[in-house]
Amino acid sequence: MKEIDLHTKIKVYMIEECTNLEKKLIDEAKKATQNSYAPYSEFNVGAALYLENGEIISASNQENASYPQGLCAERNAVFYANSKYPDQKVVAIAIAAFNKGKFTAMPITPCGGCRQVLLETENRFNSPFKIYMVGEDKVYVVDTIKDLLPLSFGDSFF
Ligand code: THU
Repeated sequence: MKEIDLHTKIKVYMIEECTNLEKKLIDEAKKATQNSYAPYSEFNVGAALYLENGEIISASNQENASYPQGLCAERNAVFYANSKYPDQKVVAIAIAAFNKGKFTAMPITPCGGCRQVLLETENRFNSPFKIYMVGEDKVYVVDTIKDLLPLSFGDSFF
């Protein structure tokens, strides 16, 4: 029997250690939480993408009385960006969440479905991008979604 040992390194920054551009992206993700439609979970998520052309695209989670029809902030942001600018690489994404009157103390990490969609976007442009997971005073940073999705499924299987 053999074992596969998987490791993930996540950088943890205090928000004040971030560059101005990173802070801007983090702010845009936080701002986007205000446009969330989440009457069922009351968990307001915002995502902001930085594109190669310098544009920032932000979006929020949008829920539905038929629960599975709702969509996460990250997927709304990525699908909108890829629809509007199909040739623009994503350079970075920041994700923030607001719940019970404040931003989450712990950095918000993307759900499994969004990890798969972010992976597709990296693969489509053949270009990994940074993910900033925002908490109250600190941010987790990885350089590629692959760090959050080991043993991922992709088109390399077929
Ligand atoms: N949600 C996101 O928007 N992104 C995530 O990565 C995790 C969860 C949303 C989905 C749902 O509207 C609410 O948060 C509670 O799960």
